[in-house]
Amino acid sequence: MATYEEDYQRSLQDPNGFWGEAASDISWYKPWTTVLNDTNPPFYKWFEGGELNTCYNCLDRHVEEGRGDQHALIYDSPMTNQVKKFTYRELTEIVARFAGGLASLGVTKGDRVLIYMPMVPEALVAMLACARLGAVHSVVFGGFAPKELATRIDDAKPVCIIAGSCGLEPGRIVEYKPLLDEAFEMSTHKPSSSVILQRSECVASMVEGRDHDWQELVAASEPVDCVPVAATDPLYVLYTSGTTGIPKGVVRDNGGHAVALKWSMKYVYDINPGEVFWAASDVGWVVGHSYIVYAPLLHGCTTILFEGKPVGTPDAGTFWRVIQDHKVKALFTAPTAFRAIKQYDHEAKLLANYDLSNFKTLFLAGERADPDTIIWAQDALKVPVIDHWWQTESGWPIGANCMGYGMKPVKLGSPTLPVAGYDIRIIDEEDAFSEKATGDIGVIAIKLPLPPGTLPTLWHNDQGYINSYLSDIPGYYKTGDAGYVDEDGYLFIMARTDDIINVAGHRLSTGGMEEVLAGHKDVAECAVIGVQDELKGQAPMGFVVLNIGVNRDHEDLKKELVGLVREKIGPVAAFKIALVVARLPKTRSGKILRGVMRKVADGEDLIVPATIDDPSIVTEIADVLATVGYPIAKK
Ligand code: COA
Ligand code: AMP
Repeated sequence: MATYEEDYQRSLQDPNGFWGEAASDISWYKPWTTVLNDTNPPFYKWFEGGELNTCYNCLDRHVEEGRGDQHALIYDSPMTNQVKKFTYRELTEIVARFAGGLASLGVTKGDRVLIYMPMVPEALVAMLACARLGAVHSVVFGGFAPKELATRIDDAKPVCIIAGSCGLEPGRIVEYKPLLDEAFEMSTHKPSSSVILQRSECVASMVEGRDHDWQELVAASEPVDCVPVAATDPLYVLYTSGTTGIPKGVVRDNGGHAVALKWSMKYVYDINPGEVFWAASDVGWVVGHSYIVYAPLLHGCTTILFEGKPVGTPDAGTFWRVIQDHKVKALFTAPTAFRAIKQYDHEAKLLANYDLSNFKTLFLAGERADPDTIIWAQDALKVPVIDHWWQTESGWPIGANCMGYGMKPVKLGSPTLPVAGYDIRIIDEEDAFSEKATGDIGVIAIKLPLPPGTLPTLWHNDQGYINSYLSDIPGYYKTGDAGYVDEDGYLFIMARTDDIINVAGHRLSTGGMEEVLAGHKDVAECAVIGVQDELKGQAPMGFVVLNIGVNRDHEDLKKELVGLVREKIGPVAAFKIALVVARLPKTRSGKILRGVMRKVADGEDLIVPATIDDPSIVTEIADVLATVGYPIAKK
């Protein structure tokens, strides 16, 4: 077997040979004519001419190859005290029949289907059924509010929406159906039908002529076969936060995605077909798409769908129980989940109750993995703890310790080395044509073309794709992250270069929150920043300047603003702090100095920029922050 270094070099020098070989692991109806078509930059195509079906590769293929009786999916729900297991044969049958139901509603190849589901097996069934038909799914995370749903409906223009009647959060039932109905009202585009999964915890009222009951639809449907699609046809659109309130529709193709994800299971995660892989995320995020649903199934593994939280369902030992009960080999989650466990069971005492002998590796991603959490997890679990770095746009890891080649030494704070296909450069922020020296922080960019599986464009928005990612540094994809490479080539991802913040591993736009605050009748102007948070990594904090003459009780106003963000964006924004200030710090040209406010709130060393309009505003901000206990004393 080639070494990591050999494969990495080959992937850049001979992408056709490297990815062409990897593609032989996927089953094709028709082989591709070119591995990489680079004749029309910046629009690159992988496996052009090829035809396949992603659902076939995830399910039917494994049944045909003898895995029919192996578990494909284990649904473990401490929220409902249930564990349900589905073999590859059972899951294939369920998906084929549900796909038949969707087809009976008129869903066909190329149509978009929006999925708004809690963490239940039917979420995965819905995604795979779309893939089976060649329809393009767009999953919206359950913690988003109707307005966010409506924005996605208007952009993706789905013919059908699949939703659960409710999600379950500790101590409360989140009724999805009223949120969906409100989104239907708000959106300009009106999907012709919807399928509602009635959960026993909450039965939703149905709209005559539009809403179809999941069970009734399935009972009246026949299974259907997989529909061949072009490798370059879209498999899904997943919306992610950009710097404005309008989310970006990241497109994923079928061919490159299947090849890259299957490859990653062996080489990044060191997982073999038949083994159990658990990504403790949500199907609404890219981690859920790639590593709960597609990659483990493409690879013939057993995947775990966990409906619960790392703590409180019922306790901080729940992850250990799942690993033990289902013989999990590798767990992938966000550092915030481990910070939560650490907070509740600092000595990791609950581990003594479980047998983790099958467990080999913990993978962390979604936000910067702080060294404290890595060390705690290493000491407690006695397995390698592997930080790796990627984004919704990449769909699979950009930087990782590729365990399939043998583990490289871990450097705390680093996701290790670039993964095959990613030619990573650190570019000078001031000069897009100049690369930074070893150890110097700059903008992290990836030389085009990006490897298979990464976004080919934004949904129906080629120009937006260019403007958002490609125009600043010609010939490169701008990741939006800043960092450096050390003398051993190790990557260090330090911060975002834009207004995106990362709250409990969830990527959120401060611009989106600012739009909501600015919509309040008493607010003249505002700024939202991400401040350090011991549990969630970052937490949003809002500053508002009131209209002249407005004299409001600040606590009342805060409640209204917090409520507004919850209503317009959703509880997932975790927006809890809104402060009234007299003025915002700005440059002389009127640009709000959010970075200055963040440094003051986090208690970091601050050099007030020379371009500031009035330096005394920094003191005003510090005084207001002090009233709510910021900066928080570091432990
Ligand atoms: N549907 C509806 N509401 C949801 C939701 C969903 N699917 N998921 C979360 N919410 C709500 C929560 O109930 C919470 O509401 P509240 O403000 O009324 O309490 C809010 O959104 C924030 O949720 P969350 O970020 O999950 O915070 P939490 O305080 O409930 O839990 C952690 C904190 C650390 C336990 C939790 O964030 C976690 O498990 N993180 C794991 C990281 C992860 O999965 N990252 C994904 C990328 S890998
Ligand atoms: P998302 O698109 O939601 O997956 O968020 C991607 C962003 O999360 C990246 O651009 C980074 O800012 C951050 N991120 C993800 N993984 C890591 C990591 N391992 N280390 C540091 N930041 C990370």
